[in-house]
Amino acid sequence: MHSIKDTNFAGRKVLLRVDFNVPVNADMHITDDTRIRESLPTINKLLADGAALIIMAHFGRPKKGGFEPEFTLKPVAEYLAKVLGREVLFTQALLGSGEPEQMAANLKGGEVMLLENIRFYPEETKGGEELARQLSKLGDCYVNDAFGAAHREHSSTAVVARFFPNDKYFGFLMENEVTNLERLLNNPQRPFTAIIGGSKVSSKIGILENLLDKVDNMVIIGGMRYTFTKALGGRIGNSICEDDKLDLARDLMKRMDAKGVKYFIPTDSVIANRFANDADTRIVPSGEVPDGWESMDCGPESCKMLRDVILSSKTILWNGPAGVFEFPTFAKGTHEIATYVAQACAQGAFAAIGGGDSVAAVKQMGLADKMSYVSTGGGAMLEYLEGKTLPGIKAIQD
Ligand code: 3PG
Repeated sequence: MHSIKDTNFAGRKVLLRVDFNVPVNADMHITDDTRIRESLPTINKLLADGAALIIMAHFGRPKKGGFEPEFTLKPVAEYLAKVLGREVLFTQALLGSGEPEQMAANLKGGEVMLLENIRFYPEETKGGEELARQLSKLGDCYVNDAFGAAHREHSSTAVVARFFPNDKYFGFLMENEVTNLERLLNNPQRPFTAIIGGSKVSSKIGILENLLDKVDNMVIIGGMRYTFTKALGGRIGNSICEDDKLDLARDLMKRMDAKGVKYFIPTDSVIANRFANDADTRIVPSGEVPDGWESMDCGPESCKMLRDVILSSKTILWNGPAGVFEFPTFAKGTHEIATYVAQACAQGAFAAIGGGDSVAAVKQMGLADKMSYVSTGGGAMLEYLEGKTLPGIKAIQD
């Protein structure tokens, strides 16, 4: 691992890629600053060494090419200045205008500047080498701490590293994510339980397949479980289902049986007569959902099953909610999982939480700091767990 830990950056100009793609409300106020806070150890170490920091980040998915006000990083620059307790230089002018170039050239040790949204350059998402070259001229070494964007082969996340063959490093956030994910995949204490949810089997095939060889227990929850329930011959009413994935679900269950992986699919469901928080509800066996009703959450028997499997595990991975947890009426299954995982951690288990909704649930319940590790990556964590090589990581290791 090429960590910043063992290097002193005094007098260096560090080109630092972070993932500050944080959620904002309609007034552009940051509603969850986790990604910014998690980057602070890296930023503070580099500043404490006496480095000058040129920070690159993306925000949203601007498409037009050039500056777009709704995607500016200005609110992030202001927020970063507040949490760092020091000035963060920022200009909305883009590279080529001479302004950011001048700002970077004048930057002194202990000073910080943030470049405007790196996705305002259309070459960024295409991995353009010319943009990477322009960026590389701003600093004399490269640090990547943007785990959340490590699955993107973009100019600022991967290509720019080529310009610093002997001077490229992982930041602490990146190092921490990789260490935890490696522990999960390669050195889990057993029993190892994966709890995988989300609405579609198709978006989780890669992770289910890669984890087949690694886990002792596979818990399949969320909307994707109805494809499995239907594949087992159950009636699922109007519940979400991918009919073209029924054979795949059967095949996955067969392979889990063959490998001795125990799989758990909720046996009862909270069903609703419409997709609304105030719908009429009933609790029924998962394979007996009447037509006109849809399943929205795990039932009480399933919650007990979840409790037993989670509390008897030594390693846990949780990705994806149990039900439609954004409706309070159907949040119980997800909340119970969060509670049991926190209890398992208190008993000494190692638990990793990833994916927007499960992370949101854990935060909503104030349980994030009870978990061993909450990933800052959505798609990046998923791809890592699928066994893929992430370009942002490979670019530093090459
Ligand atoms: C994320 O929010 O998951 C990362 O910042 C990556 O963003 P992207 O999916 O727009 O590349």
